[in-house]
Amino acid sequence: MVPGARGLVAPPQAERLVKGIVLAGGAGSRLDPITRVASKQLQPVYDKPMVYYPLATLLDAGINDILLISTPQDLPRFESLLGDGRQWGMTIRYAEQPAPKGIAQAFLIGADFIAGDPVALILGDNIFYGAAGFDAVVASFRTGALVFGYPVRDPERYGVVELDDDGRVVSLVEKPEHPRSNLAVPGFYLYDGKVVELTEGLRPSARGELEITDLNKAYLDRGELRVKRLPRGLAWLDSGTHDSLLEAANFVATIEHRQGLKVACLEEIAYRKAFITEAELAALVRTMPNSSYRAYLETMVLGEGGLR
Ligand code: DAU
Repeated sequence: MVPGARGLVAPPQAERLVKGIVLAGGAGSRLDPITRVASKQLQPVYDKPMVYYPLATLLDAGINDILLISTPQDLPRFESLLGDGRQWGMTIRYAEQPAPKGIAQAFLIGADFIAGDPVALILGDNIFYGAAGFDAVVASFRTGALVFGYPVRDPERYGVVELDDDGRVVSLVEKPEHPRSNLAVPGFYLYDGKVVELTEGLRPSARGELEITDLNKAYLDRGELRVKRLPRGLAWLDSGTHDSLLEAANFVATIEHRQGLKVACLEEIAYRKAFITEAELAALVRTMPNSSYRAYLETMVLGEGGLR
């Protein structure tokens, strides 16, 4: 229970658009030496940088007002890769996390950006593929916190949620030794405008981090945490180890080869979601060097082979 938190009242949010935070910092030590000169989220997952995938999830969910948080060393690299986001109809701002003091610290760093609005947080190494229906979930999100549950074989690596038959949360534990369910909580979370105050009430864990699971428990204590089970037809991959990075790349390559369609192509999503016009897309494509990525946009999105 967060001291003094019960009295908090979220500002009226009916008209407020959900903002997005991409957390793309961390020590990256698990992938050393790959991450010595550029962070994990800048590494390729098959044909595009990892950070494209969480950005695509946000954009596809209708979220285009973004704050990207990373280390002081990596932030300039993200800026030169993504710019101000205007080319995709987004606004991307940047903020530093000087040291990896926990996922929930994103809300303290992003407090001015959030400014009392609802906010989605996505971890920069989480990849979603398939019909998750995040756009409808985001559009109808108003108050409290909403997290997801996804069945995995190795729940002990994640935040684990246990639900009763009515879908109510029975327990929520970060990396339990003996998981009470196989439902992991993926790194995509939705919070209302109280998130900053509730994070301020958290204490660092034994490993010195502001834990996202503790924040979710604070919402749970207030009776304001909802968990939505993701459909098993959805793929949720993380890419934090050498093997999971390779598996994610192979997964994307398999889908793209089979369908001839790209996963997480930001230009395509921006266009199909009407964040940019056809003329803006065409102008953007003309600035790209000759590559299979450009050829895809020319033929499958703008050209005659395109699916409209
Ligand atoms: O992937 C989902 C899981 O993410 C959740 O199920 C867990 O509840 C949650 O704690 C988290 O677990 P991880 O073990 O994956 O957390 P990790 O410390 O590896 O951080 C996840 C990403 O967030 C990673 O890409 C680095 C970034 N990060 C992490 C911390 C702690 C930051 O940018 N700053 C940080 O301070």
